[in-house]
Amino acid sequence: MQHSFVHLHARAQPEQVIAACAHFVVKQLNAAIAARGVARITLAGGNTPKALYDALASPLHRNEVDWQRVEFYFGDERAVPQTHPDSNFGMAQRHLFMPLGLAPTQVFPMISTPMFPLAEEAKRNQNLLTSWAGTGVPRFDFMVNGMGDDGHFASLFPDTPALTVRDRWVVVNPVAKLDTERLTLTYPIFEEARTVCFLVIGARKQAAFSAMMQPESTLPVARLIQSRTTDWFVDEACVNRATQKELP
Ligand code: 6PG
Repeated sequence: MQHSFVHLHARAQPEQVIAACAHFVVKQLNAAIAARGVARITLAGGNTPKALYDALASPLHRNEVDWQRVEFYFGDERAVPQTHPDSNFGMAQRHLFMPLGLAPTQVFPMISTPMFPLAEEAKRNQNLLTSWAGTGVPRFDFMVNGMGDDGHFASLFPDTPALTVRDRWVVVNPVAKLDTERLTLTYPIFEEARTVCFLVIGARKQAAFSAMMQPESTLPVARLIQSRTTDWFVDEACVNRATQKELP
């Protein structure tokens, strides 16, 4: 059963998924810039988005957006310095910001250099968001997310405290299963955004993808898709064959 709030952009092969998602990102950013003069986007970390960021910085797309009018934020970040190989900022720096030659003033890493204690970083990010959002829930134009095989997104992992936070936008989230702490945006931010997209590729994600579509699912990602419209860019390996129509 396809969830009524899920806009599925399914493609047979990963490279087709990346191409479709890159076109979608360009379109959404340009719409935001045309409407408000600026586009505020949050990026996902992990591995899957690397190919998307490479595509956006490639000759095919790099001239399609006035990148100076885009502000880049993050959905979550690991508790590591920007130069650490696990840093989501570092990954985006290599695959998107440097290839596009972006000014540091338009990129907002969640972790400072040098790194402060995580609770201080959370407060700093909270203040950054309220500096342009005021007292309401900060509204991003576009949010790029991945999904873990356990149904987490950003660093909203199953059975973690951040899942119930609704009065703060950025929190430190202890993730026992990873024996670490993460910084993550909270649900109100994802619920408020103009467009939320997921880029999910590979058979490893198939079980979580099928599970989240069940109305009674309590996976972190299921709570979001039950509350708002989301756009999903997925490949054949991720979509459960049972629900799959012929993919282009
Ligand atoms: C992170 C991400 C996280 C990621 C998923 C999927 O910090 O790792 O924000 O939510 O999107 O874990 O990661 P992959 O794309 O590597 O499978």
